[in-house]
Amino acid sequence: MQSSPTPELTQFAEDVLAGLSSTPKSLSSKYFYDDEGSRLFQEIMKLPEYYLTGCENEIFSQQTDAIFTSFANSGSGFDLIELGAGDGTKTAVLVDHFLKQKADISYSPIDISQEALDFLTAKFRSEFPDLRVDARNGDYFKILKSLKNGGGRRKVLLFLGSNIGNFTRQRSIEFFRHLREVMNPADLLFIGFDLQKDPHVIANAYDDSAGVTAAFNLNLLKRINRELGGNFDIEKFTHYANYRPIEGSARSYLVSRERQSVHISALGRTFEFDRWEAVFMEISQKYSLQMIEALAAESGFEIKQNFFDSRTYYCDSLWRPSPK
Ligand code: AVJ
Repeated sequence: MQSSPTPELTQFAEDVLAGLSSTPKSLSSKYFYDDEGSRLFQEIMKLPEYYLTGCENEIFSQQTDAIFTSFANSGSGFDLIELGAGDGTKTAVLVDHFLKQKADISYSPIDISQEALDFLTAKFRSEFPDLRVDARNGDYFKILKSLKNGGGRRKVLLFLGSNIGNFTRQRSIEFFRHLREVMNPADLLFIGFDLQKDPHVIANAYDDSAGVTAAFNLNLLKRINRELGGNFDIEKFTHYANYRPIEGSARSYLVSRERQSVHISALGRTFEFDRWEAVFMEISQKYSLQMIEALAAESGFEIKQNFFDSRTYYCDSLWRPSPK
């Protein structure tokens, strides 16, 4: 037993400690997005194998009229609220179109990264000088609660990019129910879901030939080295991804190429890795329409309208709260 008092651990350190102490070992994909990780994700979005971004872009640029019609609240305007906005490129396509329709809208990105919000605010202010942009930093639910009775205008919550795919089914339902609680009856929720398709297409999206996805996963080990004083040797791990067509889930792992010890000084701990021991990194769920319908029903929503790309690879699903 350690006799010195336990120094205060950050959430990141605590989660790394818990993940590397459990069997099987795991690390949380929510920690992928430090500055380097965010840059690598931008690169992933440009890969030929990573079809998701192109599909959502196609839907937004080809079906902007239909999307506008279903967002519009009999002419009284609406507020777009984006959860985890990323670089906002896709949302800018919608905003551009809505403004050309002379719609009375505002845009509020919500994120835990102030850096991301500063970037988005600058981008939207310069592209759309007349748009009201109101970035909010912090926890989604706290902020949404504070916006709950915002002048009776319709809020359209955006949760794009199949970010929901990183949640387990149980966590997804909790997340949607929580959103439901802070929404008014006329508010809407617009969610990007990556659909089940040819398993080869999905497997390649998470194992690209340029090795960017591998670098994206390995960056989390580098982040532990940088922020927690770890001594991971990146060369001694290999990225492995697979797709399970029955469950509809892509999974990724970092596998230890040899028996080795890794010390993490902020945790005051050494972790042993067996030869070919795998660390579970990420789940990216793919959905059937039945799954989307069941998720909506179980979290207190009805599907107002689904929007698909031309290959039916992807679905942006628009939900409204079902009456209580
Ligand atoms: C940002 C969660 C939608 O799961 O497809 C991309 C992250 N991981 N390549 C996804 C990711 C590997 C991505 N999401």
